[in-house]
Amino acid sequence: MKKILITGGAGFIGSHVVRLFVNKYPDVKIVNLDKLTYAGNLENLRDIENAPNYTFIKGDITDAEFINNLFKEEKPDGVIHLAAESHVDRSITNPLEFVTTNVIGTVNLLNAAKHAWGCNKDKELPADKRFYHVSTDEVYGSLGDEGFFLETTPYDPQSPYSASKASSDHFVRAYHNTYNMSVVITNCSNNYGANQFPEKLIPLFIHNIKTNKPLPVYGDGKYTRDWLWVVDHARAIDVVFHTGKLGETYNIGGFNEWQNINLIKLLIKIADKKLGRAEGESEKLITYVKDRPGHDKRYAIDASKIKNELGWTPSVTFEEGLDKTIEWYLSNDEWLNSVTSGDYQSYYAKQYGK
Ligand code: NAD
Ligand code: TYD
Repeated sequence: MKKILITGGAGFIGSHVVRLFVNKYPDVKIVNLDKLTYAGNLENLRDIENAPNYTFIKGDITDAEFINNLFKEEKPDGVIHLAAESHVDRSITNPLEFVTTNVIGTVNLLNAAKHAWGCNKDKELPADKRFYHVSTDEVYGSLGDEGFFLETTPYDPQSPYSASKASSDHFVRAYHNTYNMSVVITNCSNNYGANQFPEKLIPLFIHNIKTNKPLPVYGDGKYTRDWLWVVDHARAIDVVFHTGKLGETYNIGGFNEWQNINLIKLLIKIADKKLGRAEGESEKLITYVKDRPGHDKRYAIDASKIKNELGWTPSVTFEEGLDKTIEWYLSNDEWLNSVTSGDYQSYYAKQYGK
């Protein structure tokens, strides 16, 4: 492939994917399309912004005309689609924004790619073109104490965020089935790492430990998530983009389940040590707050398919990944201060009160 369009490349996961592709494939042009919402930040890409194979374009995937023109001008051979509204709590207060960005934005991209690549049921699959849709394990709904999400698990989304992602996944599959579009989808578990906006659990809690603010634990804190280091997600995207079978879905996960409260105590332990505080000192910041409405109890991914068929496994243990992550947040004041000024304050006050 000569040119890959990556959407949402200024966001958390997107910036790690852009960096990996720009550095690993110097002969491939990487075009990063991002609207730069509150979650998108070009600071995330400072180290590669002058690379000769990298271009940034500011634009909105919900604008169909803009997207069609972009495909005409840039003529990408591949798309890696990450642009989305991504925070469950925000989807509870503003579901329509999630439908607009995650569903309509995805369909706009599919339409533009279908037209540009001449996808048509009467023709062979254009195998040299590829539309990669990045999705979440949350589309499968919520598990009880046992079991894992497989690629064949029926969709059962429970939040407006996961419902919008499920809908976009269905459209991607429908374009494969109806128009022979060359698609691939991955559903990944919770990511953590550098450059994640501090509204999600791990960066929010590191930031609050550092600044001695309450740690707002929803409900009883016994909700369970599977956590994967973002760099390993980017590696998995590279593997699936290049070797995944067209039309297929792959689950990506860290083989790494944690109850929130246990994870929070581990975060505190590592952060207190790095901050020179007594062991467990910051546990006094733990504050149980009102639960999230419709809170999914447990997510757990069975990632055997990508492991067995494509040879991908995570490269670090959770302890290693978390250590690097905490270190990054503790030593990147400038980044944290810039993203937590302005709108962040009003979001925080609305979500958590004083
Ligand atoms: P993020 O919120 O950090 O970044 C999203 C990016 O999309 C931002 O840069 C934002 O500016 C951009 N964007 C939003 N609306 C746009 C629009 N209309 N047009 C163009 N750009 C727009 O999200 P993230 O955590 O990096 O997630 C990226 C993708 O991965 C999403 O599709 C998400 O559903 C999926 N995912 C995330 C996780 C996770 O744990 N964070 C896990 C699995 C899957
Ligand atoms: P989050 O990072 O928002 O990811 P997701 O909801 O997509 O899994 O939340 C991870 C878990 O942490 C989830 O069970 C909700 C919980 N949580 C809190 O207890 N307090 C918080 O302030 C936040 C943001 C999340």
